[in-house]
Amino acid sequence: MSQRILITSALPYANGPLHFGHIAGAYLPGDCYARFQRLMGNDVLYLCGSDEHGVAITLSAEMAKRTPKEHVDLFHSINEAFFKQLEFSFDHYSRTTWPGHVPTTQEFFLDLQKKGFIEERTENHLYSESENRFLADRYVVGTCPKCGYEEARGDECQRCAASYEATDLKNPRSKLTGSPLVLRPSKHLYLRFDRFKEQLTDWIRQKNWKENVVNFAMRYIDDLKPRAITRDSTWGVPVPGYPDKVFYVWFDAPIGYVSAAKEWAQKNHQPDRWKDYWLDPKTKLVHFIGKDNIPFHAVFFPAMLMGQDLPYKLPDEVPANEFYLLEGRQFSKSEGWTIDLETFFTRYTADQIRYAIAANAPETSDSEFSWKDFQNRCNAELLGKLGNFVNRVLVFTAQQANSHIPARHELQEVDQQFLHQMKLLVDSAEQSYAHFKLRKASQTLMELAQLGNVYFDAKKPWQLAKNPAHRHELETVLSLCIECIKNLALVASPIIPASAQKIWKMLGCSGELAKGSWQKIAHETLPANQKLNPPEILFRKVEDAEIEEQIALLGKKMAKTQEKPMSTATYEPLKSTITYEQFQPLDLRVGQVLEAVKVPKSKKLLKLLIDLGFEKRTVVSGIALSYEPEQLIGRKVVLIANLAPATIMGIESQGMILAAGHENLLELPQIQNLPPGSVVA
Ligand code: 2FM
Ligand code: ZN
Repeated sequence: MSQRILITSALPYANGPLHFGHIAGAYLPGDCYARFQRLMGNDVLYLCGSDEHGVAITLSAEMAKRTPKEHVDLFHSINEAFFKQLEFSFDHYSRTTWPGHVPTTQEFFLDLQKKGFIEERTENHLYSESENRFLADRYVVGTCPKCGYEEARGDECQRCAASYEATDLKNPRSKLTGSPLVLRPSKHLYLRFDRFKEQLTDWIRQKNWKENVVNFAMRYIDDLKPRAITRDSTWGVPVPGYPDKVFYVWFDAPIGYVSAAKEWAQKNHQPDRWKDYWLDPKTKLVHFIGKDNIPFHAVFFPAMLMGQDLPYKLPDEVPANEFYLLEGRQFSKSEGWTIDLETFFTRYTADQIRYAIAANAPETSDSEFSWKDFQNRCNAELLGKLGNFVNRVLVFTAQQANSHIPARHELQEVDQQFLHQMKLLVDSAEQSYAHFKLRKASQTLMELAQLGNVYFDAKKPWQLAKNPAHRHELETVLSLCIECIKNLALVASPIIPASAQKIWKMLGCSGELAKGSWQKIAHETLPANQKLNPPEILFRKVEDAEIEEQIALLGKKMAKTQEKPMSTATYEPLKSTITYEQFQPLDLRVGQVLEAVKVPKSKKLLKLLIDLGFEKRTVVSGIALSYEPEQLIGRKVVLIANLAPATIMGIESQGMILAAGHENLLELPQIQNLPPGSVVA
């Protein structure tokens, strides 16, 4: 019987481009699950969209000199296009700035308020005296109260994933200026999460979720406290009755799953349709997330749902995945530790990357993308096992059976065994998909292809073809191999939909495989005599040279920052001696970079806005080949503060920053603790 399934993938922040690292956790597993459940005949609504509020966005927009709206518009389009390139099958890709999200969020709040779960409190908040404003959590850095990491963010620690209030940080300071922060009283609204403790405990105890998800959630439930759900900002969902405040992004973002369903329903001219998914207890609700989002999906959002008048569904499954790394390290665009997507999509197909990620999905521990593994997955598995089997069988059938599916005759023991093994593997893939085991499903796909290859080799149809007495046996072998190809297309479809569809077409089947029924396709044999279409090559070989080029590219930007021994011949000769009196007029100061942008039409120049404590300076600096602008924001530099201004590329440069240089590389000196304006001598 068909089941209604509401599937969500975490709404990515529209704050930067997504990369493969993100795709492996909350996205590809969600898309494969949605595709599988549609094949199972279930009524699936798969939602995602951009998470567009929050101070992280206003902070990045401020740094990039964009309005928050311009900023989110840009990254919403980039990320939506990225998902399209990777053949994602969202039923709707929404954004939390669409107008209908505001009343939905406010209704959630008003229900909680009406029931007494919201409390106004005046508490100390972090205030920057130099910037003359309260700083929201993402504008704050400091030492993590749990693990001691010194560069921890104001809302959660990027090292140990602890989630806390910015006021819990030790040594809090402004992310923009580095200046120390003080506590000042300010009024905010708190959600009494502590009052949901028992209900959450009873609910989560019945769940048969992954151990790490339950354990992680239970740690939060044990320690539930009221949490502030408002921020002093103008970018976000306005808080009814509090004109200067907006909701904290983690209050409105998960409500985005509800408003996305409403937007989808409106676009389909059935405005109440969202209720079939969100308000029907028979619906199954599945949230695909990365492990850093566990507390919000397994504790805080469920509590918010429990506090509503409407009978909202609580999540039935929260398959959370671990992190996905690139060659053993976190993806980092600023350090060049990334994959250039434009090149990627001109050379490789979405299916190649989807398969490589699925085969290594970070289900039980962190996993990684490596170029060598990618090459191996493409060549040895997709091409060597799957593509090769499909091709050899179809080419041979075209020659021997005039491109028609041959009839099946008497089955020998080996044929029976082949059919039996095939059925076991198709059933196993079904179970793996149903239980969020994408990695196992992709292994099963390759086992099935290999089973076909072994059977084909064992039966040696090319020898059977030489003797007309073996015609029936030959036809049976080809018929069973085509049965195997049909099963391969089915099992492959959630992971590599485009290739699966190509196979489907080569088999002479019409329509879209993705719209077919798993049970029907798995259990019904393709009709004998069905006309096959000409075989096409499914996967291209990935050459060693391409992979070496990619690996070299990856290392290039890194090598720039690594120390290299200097040969004596390259030392600059010392300049002639000067006296202390000649040095003394030089006024060197510590400055802090507030803004950094590339100078148009120049490869080497950056325009920096530098805070000297007592004043701000615009400085043009030739360090663009060694530093990306975003690496410099917040960094302290040494500035020649009394150098006469000079005009460079039409910009008045009010000073010069010092950098060590060797060959083409430049490196800035490190100033750790002293504030802007300090004298360097
Ligand atoms: O971690 C993130 O990328 C968040 N933007 C996820 C939000 S999920 C949901 F709650 F919206
Ligand atoms: Zn920490």
